[in-house]
Amino acid sequence: MKELFQPDLFSKKTPSYVEVNSKEIEGIRDLITRHYICDPNLQSVLRIGALEINSNNYKIITGKSNYLLKHFRSNSYPNFFKTQIEVSQRINEAKTIFPRFVLSKNNKTIVTHDSSYWILMEHIDGVYVGGDNINFKSLGKKIGSLFNLLTDYKKSNLPDSIMINCFDSFHDSFTRLHKASTHLEDYFPKSETSNLRNNIEVISSSYREINQYIHTIASLQTAPCHIDLHPHNILNSYNDTSYFLDVESIQVGYPAVAVAFAIYKLSREYIAASKKSENTNLKIEYDVREFANCILDRIESIKINLSMLRVCALFEVLRRLFIITDLNIIEKKTAWNKVLGIQLAAIKEIPIIFKGF
Ligand SMILES: Nc1ncnc2c1ncn2[C@@H]1O[C@H](COP(=O)(O)OP(=O)(O)O)[C@@H](O)[C@H]1O
Ligand SMILES: [Mg+2]
Repeated sequence: MKELFQPDLFSKKTPSYVEVNSKEIEGIRDLITRHYICDPNLQSVLRIGALEINSNNYKIITGKSNYLLKHFRSNSYPNFFKTQIEVSQRINEAKTIFPRFVLSKNNKTIVTHDSSYWILMEHIDGVYVGGDNINFKSLGKKIGSLFNLLTDYKKSNLPDSIMINCFDSFHDSFTRLHKASTHLEDYFPKSETSNLRNNIEVISSSYREINQYIHTIASLQTAPCHIDLHPHNILNSYNDTSYFLDVESIQVGYPAVAVAFAIYKLSREYIAASKKSENTNLKIEYDVREFANCILDRIESIKINLSMLRVCALFEVLRRLFIITDLNIIEKKTAWNKVLGIQLAAIKEIPIIFKGF
């Protein structure tokens, strides 16, 4: 227990900003003035030093308002992306949940510039959710409303999350890792091998357990959800509103899995920050349960079985772990290894988080 719930990459509470060079600033100025009617009096541009590898976001500081300019790398589904933005803004008509997007001069939410896609939105000044300042009740209500509002949207306009229909590859990835486990050093950098080796047993037993539930998971109801509600995808503004980020994560998935993952990620952050893991077990169970109930009470149209949440969270973490191990084993790609330890810890933390369910 002691080595669990340690602060990790997601425990950092404030976004970091990196200065950009004058050539890059000129490029951004050109983009902003060409496509948007916003204050061209661009004072400075900072790049968000987010942990996520695909992040390429800029904070645009003008005389009046600040904006967030997002470079959208994946060119594969701009049409879906348009819907994801639309859905987020329609939800805002009912409740302020996502940052507001800024339309271009041509009334577009996405602009093409230098053959890639960009979006501009209001910049939210604030800190990431979590830590001991987390208000489980109000956050739970907000997440519940988000999922409830999302179920109203047509599935066909949104991309399917890869969590759906991943079951064959789930099995293949485990087999691959299991085979590789006798000579891990052939596949993984030295820095990861001992942590992986020490956890092969717990990965295998968790996999075997989840495997028994695979048909149950596969038959869960699907709906539009936010599939990645980790602490760095929720910003608490200084005027006390929580904003959800990462509209690309609005996808058709299993709400039970997405909710279970969110409950785990946000609760573990709360424990890590408040060091509650020492001896106040009962309070943790109580808080987490209350958090889950606040979420589930608001999701009207989807029945989520409380006792399945632990299984759903574990499934999602294993799925993420296998993506990382496959990248190493098949492609020798190590870029995501910085979150490998996070998944390994999660496998052991999840049973503790969901003990009271
Ligand atoms: N509207 C916004 N206001 C302030 N910061 C933002 C905004 N949108 C994104 N960010 C910052 O950029 C980071 C990455 O953005 P996000 O949309 O989650 O993209 P990614 O896919 O890279 O995770 C966030 O964690 C946050 O720090
Ligand atoms: Mg993000």
